[in-house]
Amino acid sequence: VFLTQEELKQIAAYKAVEFVESGMVLGLGTGSTAKYAIERIGELLHQGKLKNIVGIPTSKQTHEQALSLGIPLSDLDSHSIVDLAIDGADEVDPYLNLVKGRGGSLLREKMIEGASRKFVVIVDESKMVPYIGGSHLAMPVEIVPFCWKFTAERLQRLFEDSGCVAKLRTYKDSDEPFVTDNANYIVELYFEKDIGDLNAASDSILRLPGVVEHGMFLNMASTVIVAGELGITVKNK
Ligand code: A5P
Repeated sequence: VFLTQEELKQIAAYKAVEFVESGMVLGLGTGSTAKYAIERIGELLHQGKLKNIVGIPTSKQTHEQALSLGIPLSDLDSHSIVDLAIDGADEVDPYLNLVKGRGGSLLREKMIEGASRKFVVIVDESKMVPYIGGSHLAMPVEIVPFCWKFTAERLQRLFEDSGCVAKLRTYKDSDEPFVTDNANYIVELYFEKDIGDLNAASDSILRLPGVVEHGMFLNMASTVIVAGELGITVKNK
């Protein structure tokens, strides 16, 4: 049987929700895959199969969805330790390093998922890559709006040797800058060549004044659940 990408996303999401236990503080991811996990958590709460869950949403969008499903919500100020976070990703490499944030929520995702004891990533097999940053898709960097051109140019120069092109994210079919939940902008980095050492790349991006956070999630995922045509693969760190 041929499964659609949406069905694969849902399969991965439902599998991840099997890790959820009553009483947990849960990091709720953002995007088209995470949305299925949140839906499922809401369903299990209503059926009484899960109790005393507290959700910490990683975006305004997820906040709205969880609210509409009646999932009790809180934040990191009240719960500094999260038991389990579930979220999608844009790219996953063989070491379970991720690129995230093509949906624009990378900062809150990184704060909440970084505070989680266990971080389960859910993807369909199209997200698996041999190395991150090499898919000719964007690597997002959240920056402050102040003099964004200056910061974008400095980011591009940082990766000159990898043929980097930096572009400001705009809303679809418009020149309006995309604004994140934290009132920042997103610069998208495109690379022609491998960027090499990811930790070094991360450090140099974060050292630039004007940068808030980037979409590389290095050494953060505890488990990646991959749904493919041939079934589910669970990769553990
Ligand atoms: C949101 O900012 C992102 O990090 C998403 O988690 C990521 O883009 C995956 O989204 P999809 O599940 O919609 O592909």
